[in-house]
Amino acid sequence: MSVNEFLKDVSWSRKDLTSIEELSLREINEVFALADIFKASLKTDNAKLPYMKGKVVVNLFFEPSTRTRTAFEMAAHKLGADVISVASNASSSVKGETLRDTARNIEALMADMIIVRHSASGAAKYLADRVKIPVINAGDGAHAHPTQGLLDAFTMREKFGGNFKGKKVTILGDILFSRVARSNIYALGKLGAEVTLAGPSTLVPREFEKLGAKICYNLEDAVRGADVVMLLRIQHERQSSSHFPSVAEYANVFGLNRGREDLLKKDAFIMHPGPINRGVELDSFLADSNRSVILGQVTNGVAVRMAVMKLCSKAAERK
Ligand code: CP
Repeated sequence: MSVNEFLKDVSWSRKDLTSIEELSLREINEVFALADIFKASLKTDNAKLPYMKGKVVVNLFFEPSTRTRTAFEMAAHKLGADVISVASNASSSVKGETLRDTARNIEALMADMIIVRHSASGAAKYLADRVKIPVINAGDGAHAHPTQGLLDAFTMREKFGGNFKGKKVTILGDILFSRVARSNIYALGKLGAEVTLAGPSTLVPREFEKLGAKICYNLEDAVRGADVVMLLRIQHERQSSSHFPSVAEYANVFGLNRGREDLLKKDAFIMHPGPINRGVELDSFLADSNRSVILGQVTNGVAVRMAVMKLCSKAAERK
């Protein structure tokens, strides 16, 4: 099916994407279906597509990023848009300009979309409510990283042959400070997978049970029987105090490594949103093994972000 044919019947009417929590299962599946089309076209043809031709996308990143920022830039280029990336340390925010003023000035400069990453939870929604152009959340504090959650679920969907029912996904690591964990919990819950959160009790609060996830404080129990093990790094930048005695002790008790591979199901695969702290949450042997789909996640991030950008852009044109 062509992109234009597909877009005729979509239910998606959001100009913004700020969290997965707000998405219906139908909207998630629309992102996946459009990402399928874009992924197929990227494989067969490296040319730019015309679906955002003439649009200008501004990347506004107030935190470091390799994968997300590059993938959004790549996605915008592939859709035929022009991209401007604003480095936060070279923007007028260092002179005291508010986030709202920065975004409204970018809108006044006739940008068509803002992609924002910020350390404050809620920053993307705050902006989305204050500008008319689409705002896509590229990670806000510990709150949400919706395109990461979507690309993770998209990658699992490919591995599961489209069926999440009965699939067991273990997310192991720093859950408390992880926007990726929260976005995955919402996406996987809606898709019908069973999610287990594991790690030290100081980083895996029982409150997450309210979101439908199981909690486990023992690595062996958490990974045995899982179809997917997703590792998360310790997010020191968001922690004001230590939540375990030392990095070495964390690696010893909760690190997934070659010596623990026997615990995994024969066909279990390993995911990580990146960046990996090799030798801490995951060793190089498993990170680079055939079980790992980590680089596949990164590649899928382009098609998934193309889909989200096109859907939001189209919705904004209709408003
Ligand atoms: N997964 C992720 O958000 O990576 P970056 O911080 O490199 O964007």
